[in-house]
Amino acid sequence: MKSLKIRRPDDWHLHLRDGAMLEGVVGDTSRDFARAIIMPNLVPPVVTTADAIAYRDRILKATPSGDSFTPLMTLYLTEQTDPDDVEKGKASGLVTAVKLYPAGATTNSHGGVRDIEKAMPVLERMAKIGLPLCVHGEVTTPEIDIFDREAVFIETVLDPLRGRLPELKVTMEHVTTADGVDYISSASGNLAGTITTHHLIINRNAILVGGIKPHYYCLPVAKRENHRLALRKAATSGDARFFLGTDSAPHVDPLKECACGCAGIYTSINTMSCLAHVFEQESALDKLEAFASLNGPAWYGLPANEEMISLVKGDEPVSFPARIETGDGTVTVFDPMFPLHWQVQR
Ligand code: DOR
Ligand code: ZN
Repeated sequence: MKSLKIRRPDDWHLHLRDGAMLEGVVGDTSRDFARAIIMPNLVPPVVTTADAIAYRDRILKATPSGDSFTPLMTLYLTEQTDPDDVEKGKASGLVTAVKLYPAGATTNSHGGVRDIEKAMPVLERMAKIGLPLCVHGEVTTPEIDIFDREAVFIETVLDPLRGRLPELKVTMEHVTTADGVDYISSASGNLAGTITTHHLIINRNAILVGGIKPHYYCLPVAKRENHRLALRKAATSGDARFFLGTDSAPHVDPLKECACGCAGIYTSINTMSCLAHVFEQESALDKLEAFASLNGPAWYGLPANEEMISLVKGDEPVSFPARIETGDGTVTVFDPMFPLHWQVQR
């Protein structure tokens, strides 16, 4: 038996949804994670500070009573977002970041930003008050190949934006390419990136080889193997600019297993087991704490969690449910396609 003690981790990018789905999934996060940055792409989205505070209350109400869990709220950036409201959110201590979804990029992003120029007053205010911007870094122009969306976003949107507002703190979320890793690694400051569990494990073959596999489809879509290897290198490097954001995104099975399936992979329940496996494969178990528990809080200016957890590796594989049941329906759990032996000790 092997074991590893690390500070309790946080998830810096998470979809909890609302209502029955929220009730069905929040415990899978609060069991292992102390805090999570909560994505605002509800229907309708979380656009104002009042919306975020009300949503936070619903999350806390749905959290199992024995778990100590702090949701860190985000606002969904629109072309109408009021800079004063954003400042109020930051001052309340309850808004941790603002999320930029280019309109049409992913699930419930149609209310997102079409023309970044229209969002400049808010972005300028955020730069001034030190509120980070989380970005879904993909262009949505139909001419751009879906596998190139991230690289083109960096070149045509992110780099110009950072040139205009160098004081703005930007978290490039769910980095999926070597281009993203290189861009973050070479930036001189105010830029960090989250990496999901699943992008460390799958490449695009998982979605397409041997039949179409909707439970491996997410956005940004998984790329070629060389990109996955670049992500693994970044995540296991200990570099403070890279940290965990699972992007765990539950959808009920009928909405994934159909002619036009939703993007999203549900990993909250087995993320820590998957990560320990990946970090061990990379001979980097000593870097797991930085990735999952230290780099994220440092970036967001928060203390690391005091509490410790133990990850234990046994000879027998650990079993996770293949699906969870929620009041909204069944959600398939991410299958890493290898047996998991690491487990958070309870
Ligand atoms: O795969 C994804 N699912 N990517 C996103 O950006 C959104 C998310 C969701 O909300 O389902
Ligand atoms: Zn997401």
